[in-house]
Amino acid sequence: MVITLGRKEHEHQYISKKRFVMHMNGEGIGFGKTILFNEHFVVYGIPAIVSAIGKYTIAKIKPAETNGIDLVDNRDATPRYKQDKKEQQQDSLQRIITKMNLDFSNKGIQIELGGSLYAASGIGASAASCVAIARALSEYYGLGLTDEQINEIAFEGEKGYHGTPSGIDNTASTFGGLIWFQKDQPTIMERISLNNPVEIVIGNTGKVADTTAAVAGVRERREQNPEKYQGIFNRAENIAYLAKRAFADEDIHEIGKLMNENHKLLQQIEVSSKELDFMVKLARDAGAYGAKLTGGGLGGNMIALTPGKNLQEEVVTSLEKEGFQTLKTRIGVTRGGSIE
Ligand code: PMV
Repeated sequence: MVITLGRKEHEHQYISKKRFVMHMNGEGIGFGKTILFNEHFVVYGIPAIVSAIGKYTIAKIKPAETNGIDLVDNRDATPRYKQDKKEQQQDSLQRIITKMNLDFSNKGIQIELGGSLYAASGIGASAASCVAIARALSEYYGLGLTDEQINEIAFEGEKGYHGTPSGIDNTASTFGGLIWFQKDQPTIMERISLNNPVEIVIGNTGKVADTTAAVAGVRERREQNPEKYQGIFNRAENIAYLAKRAFADEDIHEIGKLMNENHKLLQQIEVSSKELDFMVKLARDAGAYGAKLTGGGLGGNMIALTPGKNLQEEVVTSLEKEGFQTLKTRIGVTRGGSIE
């Protein structure tokens, strides 16, 4: 199935600016995600593979006594995450409101964020919150927005966090499942299905990372060293197609090997960190078929491919022994993924 999402800057607004008379309670969900192949490269139009995970953010809206928006963030979070992202979160919220053409100057609302996804770098926490908020607002005002519209709104919200996001995070967060994603005109999204979902482990360095800075760093180095970067980018593109074939064959060993190679490329473009490299090594030594950083890098999270509950548990143990927080889930499950 190929779904073209038409990521054009749509002119239309979803509702006209007006004072709302009828209020309901609104609730919305956004899935967390993990990028299996080609974070960063995806920004330049190279295909990437992403999976939603079985953890999600829930946004709940209720009327408030005062005007404006009162955002209550009750998500569990990596220390410093909420403080560090506060300004970006406000910017993001404003973009969502503008895109939806909502006006709270006469009647305010409270948005409460919660759910099972902890707020950390690299697992789509920002996108999940944008999607959850857009869905909750749609429900609260009875707008009946489609997933495509929610995805577009969340993409706007992501700009508050990322500057120039590729759109991969909000796409996984909105649609769920395992997805082949390519930023193009229009954006290409293809679902990847697996007969047998595969266990993964996500490990948190505990360090909050700034994706905007990581993306800007890659851009700068690429401009300074175009030939070196061209070679790396070409290999990243090859890896995407090889991984797609390996998924079609359900060749998990091959997928693991390609993830390892993908991590090497991410090291070469200097978005890994010593914690990420250490965790990747721990996971591989414990038997993971493959391991790499996931998301923006420079901290944040890593992912290990660990088919079978036993191997998954062994990798968890080895990471947790060193004090790292882990999350267990599976890829290849429709929608959000399994909740564990
Ligand atoms: O750091 P995260 O989880 O938000 O992932 C960002 C992924 C990048 O490829 C680095 C940026 C993007 O917009 O695609």
